[in-house]
Amino acid sequence: MCLMHGNNTKDKYIFINYLRLFLFFSFSLYALSQLLFDTRPVAKRRRRGGCDIPTSAVHLEFLMHRVSSANLNPLQLSAAIQIYVYELPRKFNEDWLVDKRCSNHLFAAEVAIHQNLLSSPLRTLNPDEADFFFLPVYVSCKFSPKTGFPSIGHAPRTIHSAVSLVSSAMPYWNRSKGSDHIFVATHDFGACFHSMEDMAMEQGIPGFMRNSIILQTFGETTWHPCQDVENIQIPPYISPLAIAPYMLPPEEQKRNIFAFFRGKMEIHPKNYSGRMYSRGVRTAIYHRYGRNKLFYLKRQRAEGYQAELLRSIFCLCPLGWAPWSPRIVESVVFGCVPVIIADNIALPYSHAVDWNAISLKVREIDVPRLAKILLHVAATNLSVIQKNLWKEENRQALLFLEPLRIGDATWHLLDLLSRKIGRSHATRSPRALFNTEI
Ligand SMILES: *[C@@H]1O[C@H](CO)[C@@H](O)[C@H](O)[C@H]1NC(C)=O
Ligand SMILES: *[C@@H]1O[C@H](CO)[C@@H](O)[C@H](O)[C@H]1NC(C)=O
Ligand SMILES: *[C@@H]1O[C@H](CO)[C@@H](O)[C@H](O)[C@H]1NC(C)=O
Repeated sequence: MCLMHGNNTKDKYIFINYLRLFLFFSFSLYALSQLLFDTRPVAKRRRRGGCDIPTSAVHLEFLMHRVSSANLNPLQLSAAIQIYVYELPRKFNEDWLVDKRCSNHLFAAEVAIHQNLLSSPLRTLNPDEADFFFLPVYVSCKFSPKTGFPSIGHAPRTIHSAVSLVSSAMPYWNRSKGSDHIFVATHDFGACFHSMEDMAMEQGIPGFMRNSIILQTFGETTWHPCQDVENIQIPPYISPLAIAPYMLPPEEQKRNIFAFFRGKMEIHPKNYSGRMYSRGVRTAIYHRYGRNKLFYLKRQRAEGYQAELLRSIFCLCPLGWAPWSPRIVESVVFGCVPVIIADNIALPYSHAVDWNAISLKVREIDVPRLAKILLHVAATNLSVIQKNLWKEENRQALLFLEPLRIGDATWHLLDLLSRKIGRSHATRSPRALFNTEI
């Protein structure tokens, strides 16, 4: 009995093991089939489209598409791109960073973009794979010992020597004559590299840069020799770290300054053969509203500038030598309605930021009516503008965050760059064809 019982148990044991094995196989097979041939969502999708493709093939294509789009376009840009960042001798870039001003002043997008590219998933270490080539030269980190401002006279020479280096060492510049190469020129008049408009126009863009793509803060709505080049208008640099302590939610802000401006306002502007600083606009503002209680106008630099922006309802952004100003970005970031006074100014990322919804434009000749205009807005649509202004996506679009985030200033510039994929030499290669096909 014992034996029989034993045999019986043994049989049972074997049976159970077979059963287990069978179940294991069935489940595995089922799971595998689910993995390989579960085409329900795809089949449904396709059927709606009226296609009659074998479902497993569709699924394979679907999977490949998912894999490839994640790999080739990790930042979800308008087109998948890869960028090669030239490694230049440190004297062209990194060496300047010992001066903290270099990575923080209003032209410092040249540093932020370079650093963000180095760590971005779009960077390729293989130049043969690249759609675009980035030349990292920090030209505005040379500060004038007299004024403390960036001196940019050396920029064309410095950039030219960087181009000589890369064009003699590698074939990529020569094969496209620089047309898929990218430079940053964040000065008053972009790649014209002079802060006085007439001199900038006379000097023009250096010949060797005219085929390339320039990332610049300068922008006008009408033709101008300093933007007569393939370019992307980017916002001026405001350090995200420096503003972080001031980012209060709107309900916690007390805005008790009606209209604010702190900056250079000449009492008697010099006439440089017909050209006057700010075309006389800042002087007009000062004379007209210097004693008006609604206006808080200061001519000197001072500590607490950020707190003043945070306390203000309207922030005046009149032109200086150039139409653009870091004040436009500062105002948006600090939730103060930018009042832009610069005829013909083009604003950065206007494809993504609805400037009409978040700012006011006042014509230069309307400065005498400025108080009236602002009071009218305060009485009518101010709260609408403020609500638009406080949308996170607007502020994020104008800040170069580190590391870059989808929707920030670096991301928007990469997205605009990806739409210029046709300029890429690599586009004509088989890899790029494959890349855009799937
Ligand atoms: C590119 O062209 C320049 C000027 O014609 C020449 O000096 C240089 O050697 C060329 N570079 C390469 C890699 O052939
Ligand atoms: C500035 O000087 C030019 C001559 O160089 C003159 O024609 C112009 O009227 C002056 N502008 C002002 C506002 O004084
Ligand atoms: C607010 O009103 C001003 C002047 O009446 C107008 O120019 C502006 O477009 C308006 N803005 C919005 C967002 O409604």
